[in-house]
Amino acid sequence: MYQDPSAHLINSATGAMSDAGGRYIKRLRDLDGLYLDTATFQSTLATSADTIVYTVHEKRPAQSVGDLIFGTTMMEPGRIGDEFYMTRGHIHACANRPEVYYGLSGEGLMLLETPVGDVRILEVKPRVAAYVPPFWIHRSVNTGTTPLVMSFFYPSDAGQDYTIIEKSGGMAVRIIASGNGWEAVKNPSYKQRSEADIAAVHASSK
Ligand SMILES: [Fe+2]
Repeated sequence: MYQDPSAHLINSATGAMSDAGGRYIKRLRDLDGLYLDTATFQSTLATSADTIVYTVHEKRPAQSVGDLIFGTTMMEPGRIGDEFYMTRGHIHACANRPEVYYGLSGEGLMLLETPVGDVRILEVKPRVAAYVPPFWIHRSVNTGTTPLVMSFFYPSDAGQDYTIIEKSGGMAVRIIASGNGWEAVKNPSYKQRSEADIAAVHASSK
């Protein structure tokens, strides 16, 4: 009845994790619709569809309520036009489940948004723990020139809902290059979520 404890060695440069049960990769061709500059995205896709944008190693000990899923995410540096490489982003399908990310190498951001459109941005670098509270939509962005590697930990019954970002035309702000750094700009494609969509997020809580 008791699960085996386990220890996992993480390579902070690549995100590789020993005894990870699973791994998945997102390539440029999997990320259609994410970037504002669709013309640049399509022309980049023509030559670089297989380019890896991010890789996730994860361990899912059990699906039972009360357990944790944990692992690493490694995001390559890069941009589509002015916009930095980012993850698809999601809210937890059971929206009141939180998550913690911990920076291992590189530099980037955790872009956070409530269902009603409040935005917060947390800078992540090695040894920074970023807390994603319940109900916050979250996406990571690599604003540096080297891979952004973070570990993450979240409840095993959280799940992911990616449609919340697609339905609103992206997140409320986009992260673009500015000088030697980054800048958050209003996303012109963004549409406020309806009362019904916001109520559905809250109804997903367990
Ligand atoms: Fe998450």
